[in-house]
Amino acid sequence: MMRSNQLEQLLVFIFILSPTLLVLVTHAKSTIEACSSTDSCTSLLSYIVPWDSKFSEIAYRFQVNVFDVLAANSINLTIPSPGNQILQEKSMLKIPNSCACVDGIRRSIIAYTVKAADSLDLISQGYGELVSAEQIRTMNGIGPKNPLTSGQSIMIQLPCTCFNNTNNGVSSVYMSYVVQSGESLSSIGREFGPTLMELVSINGLDQPRVDPGDILAIPFSACSSANLNWYNESLIVPNGSIALTANDCVKCFCRPSSLKLHCSPSGIVASCSHLQCKESDLFIGDVSIQQNAIGCNVSTCLYRGHNGRKIFIWKILLMPTAQQMEKITAQGHQSNLQIL
Ligand SMILES: *[C@@H]1O[C@H](CO)[C@@H](O)[C@H](O)[C@H]1NC(C)=O
Ligand SMILES: *[C@@H]1O[C@H](CO)[C@@H](O)[C@H](O)[C@H]1NC(C)=O
Ligand SMILES: *[C@@H]1O[C@H](CO)[C@@H](O)[C@H](O)[C@H]1NC(C)=O
Ligand SMILES: *[C@@H]1O[C@H](CO)[C@@H](O)[C@H](O)[C@H]1NC(C)=O
Ligand SMILES: *[C@@H]1O[C@H](CO)[C@@H](O)[C@H](O)[C@H]1NC(C)=O
Repeated sequence: MMRSNQLEQLLVFIFILSPTLLVLVTHAKSTIEACSSTDSCTSLLSYIVPWDSKFSEIAYRFQVNVFDVLAANSINLTIPSPGNQILQEKSMLKIPNSCACVDGIRRSIIAYTVKAADSLDLISQGYGELVSAEQIRTMNGIGPKNPLTSGQSIMIQLPCTCFNNTNNGVSSVYMSYVVQSGESLSSIGREFGPTLMELVSINGLDQPRVDPGDILAIPFSACSSANLNWYNESLIVPNGSIALTANDCVKCFCRPSSLKLHCSPSGIVASCSHLQCKESDLFIGDVSIQQNAIGCNVSTCLYRGHNGRKIFIWKILLMPTAQQMEKITAQGHQSNLQIL
């Protein structure tokens, strides 16, 4: 049944620009990406909180971990009882999302348990209109013979895209964004960074305009671990966000200015070992600078991936030139010395 509904939707797809790019024409436009592999990829959902909500409620709704939500939004991970913190209505959050490939299209599927007071409209609102009431209805065959009932588990499909996690050769993470009333492509570009032309081309728009309710893919430049020689691990973190890794023992921040990953202990898991470099007092992410007669030595302790509970780290010792030294001190002790 789900498949036939999707086929109906597929009939109204139009191809624009690239074969991987399709625009779904229903009431509102939504950028979708065709896919063939079964791999999931890293994406973001933008969520405009519809009513005051606790972080734990939001995380539950999207079936993600509270800490991952905090991290994606660069919120202090060590605040007390983070799940109980309340986010006010209309705040915008980035929800980290694993974007799957289902029936040839990238999307994220979430099981939602219907509550007593729920209606299709209320559920759609609860997901920040990332899915319409009509889509929930057809997807789940809700109708007179199959009404929405409290306790029932229904499928919610949310649009997501990855486009190979690149944008013009730059590592990128794409965020699904619901256009709000009063917004235009240029105001969205100003808010999130991409140019108008980029938004037009990524979303395969035939003209540079959008309507409220349209769902766009917005690229964020990202830090990638691809050339950091990590053991068996790859991480892609959008600019300005944090990602947790190594069983939440390590957090990695993507600095917007340099697009370099800086990893350090997360501080949220008590039982983490291997966070300190051998024969030194340095923990992951620490840098120590020692002056000597001819200049100075810089030691740093770097995260290098993990294998189950085992975390790999590397201590490197450098004797930087005066010019490099200036750069290091300018960036403070947070520096990731692999830039040298
Ligand atoms: C994060 O929150 C904790 C607890 O409230 C506080 O001690 C710490 O200084 C905060 N860290 C930052 C970077 O603000
Ligand atoms: C995505 O990456 C894969 C592997 O690197 C490549 O084969 C494929 O052509 C790429 N697709 C696009 C649309 O760039
Ligand atoms: C990082 O993201 C912000 C928007 O959150 C954007 O304005 C900025 O240009 C981005 N920086 C880089 C280096 O892409
Ligand atoms: C700096 O590194 C050199 C070469 O490894 C070493 O001989 C020297 O003792 C180090 N100096 C300091 C202050 O650590
Ligand atoms: C990397 O993964 C391979 C295959 O899973 C495994 O055999 C190897 O031991 C791993 N290497 C490290 C350093 O974890």
